[in-house]
Amino acid sequence: MQFHATRSSAASQRTACAVVGVYEKGDLTSAANALDQKSGGLIRRVIKRGDFSGKTGTVLPIAEVPGTPAERALLVGLGSRAEFGRKQYRRAVAAAVDWLSRSGARDAVLYFPQENIPEVDAYYAARFAAESVAAALYRIPDLKSGKKPPLPKLTRVGVAVGDKGELGPARRGLIDGEGIAAGMALTRDLGNLPANVCTPTYLASRARQLAREHKAVRVKILEAADLKRLKMGSFLSVTRGSEQPPKLIVIEYRGGKTSSDPVALVGKGVTFDSGGISLKPGLGMDEMKFDMGGAASVFGAIEAIARIGAKLNIVGVIPACENMPSGRATKPGDIVTAMSGKTIEVLNTDAEGRLILCDAITYSRKFKPRAVVDIATLTGACVIALGAHYTGLFSNDEGLAQDLDAAGRRADDRAWHMPIAEEYAEQLKSNFADMANIGGREAGAVTAACFLWKFTDGLKWAHLDIAGTAWLSGTRKGSTGRPVPLLVDWLLSQA
Ligand code: BES
Ligand code: MN
Ligand code: ZN
Repeated sequence: MQFHATRSSAASQRTACAVVGVYEKGDLTSAANALDQKSGGLIRRVIKRGDFSGKTGTVLPIAEVPGTPAERALLVGLGSRAEFGRKQYRRAVAAAVDWLSRSGARDAVLYFPQENIPEVDAYYAARFAAESVAAALYRIPDLKSGKKPPLPKLTRVGVAVGDKGELGPARRGLIDGEGIAAGMALTRDLGNLPANVCTPTYLASRARQLAREHKAVRVKILEAADLKRLKMGSFLSVTRGSEQPPKLIVIEYRGGKTSSDPVALVGKGVTFDSGGISLKPGLGMDEMKFDMGGAASVFGAIEAIARIGAKLNIVGVIPACENMPSGRATKPGDIVTAMSGKTIEVLNTDAEGRLILCDAITYSRKFKPRAVVDIATLTGACVIALGAHYTGLFSNDEGLAQDLDAAGRRADDRAWHMPIAEEYAEQLKSNFADMANIGGREAGAVTAACFLWKFTDGLKWAHLDIAGTAWLSGTRKGSTGRPVPLLVDWLLSQA
């Protein structure tokens, strides 16, 4: 999709489709009003007849608008003017694009981004427009046999701004929004692919592809023998039951000065989590193909940042493996030694994410990161605590936590700051090793975060538990692309 910002008026712009907003109760936006005036009252007549209510997310195509050079117009409902906000805005973009993608229009101009959206400036209005257009056009990697649906004709979308000073911010918003959209699409693709396709080896090949596509990206893949040499006993203990070789994928983005310390993004890359010997129940186990959502969000964030060309350095560290049962698999009660030297009693082989992340966090130290953020579908307990709407945010640094929280608010990809504390960490005490890998039923998302915390001495570190936000279940089952918008917003603020 090609995007451009424009200050044109709906009444005089040549386009295949002028998309104008209409609030409830016949309350026209200025663009809708302009079309109405030029066409001798056509829009008001349509509304008066009762053909369009203005309810959020509804659309009404108008085949011709006499007196204007637009080939057609599309009315989009924005709901009540008093309640119009970013949610309604995104829904309106999605509804418009949904109709446009099934129409014959090759291009369109959206005029309602110039409306007043509380707490959203021209930059974010344009960025959200680009993100929402791309999200509406996203299709799951198609592994269905049979005829493919036709591709949408729409290839060019204009975003109208109110005044001249907003053109610059809107253009930047479109560039960043396109980057984020491409990153989210990559994250979603990787998440949606089945585990028999998306193996650790496949993830490694997609990382190499990133390096081929972007000059500033370099990739290194560490194999099982390298992990042994590095003494990553915790990571290796998880991979023992699988026939798929593990990979430690290291993706470096160099957009900043050579002297500038990188930000480290550590992503959980369990391409299938059966639970191992502590086997999960069968119902819904297929969803554990999404257990590499953290890894996928690191791919997506780097794809986005590389497209945007932001001036900072990033290192992505992705431990990728399967968690499977077998005669060779790690057993409950086994004690393993992490790369840091700490010993861990594996009381539950299904608490595997923390076991691979602790070694990846230790490994990330060699890059002298100014901050380490790990992203993981870590606990079912986080889904119970926060559901599908907010990502769990944990940190050993108040400032970093606040920055990530603020990035999530700006990007409309929210996180909720949760505690870590010694009282909770005590739940991880073991009679036989330095620590156990589970901390009992209470505060499961917090004890998981506390486990990782024990490996972050001297690091500025945050942990994002995306178990609830990385994918949807039910009829809309699939990967969401979160928390790429949050990560990219935060990374841009670091550049
Ligand atoms: N990948 C799961 C977490 C998960 C569960 C994500 C449900 C999304 C939905 C993780 O590896 C896991 O199995 N965690 C266990 C930890 C427990 C054994 C302490 C869990 O949450 O049940
Ligand atoms: Mn598990
Ligand atoms: Zn898992």
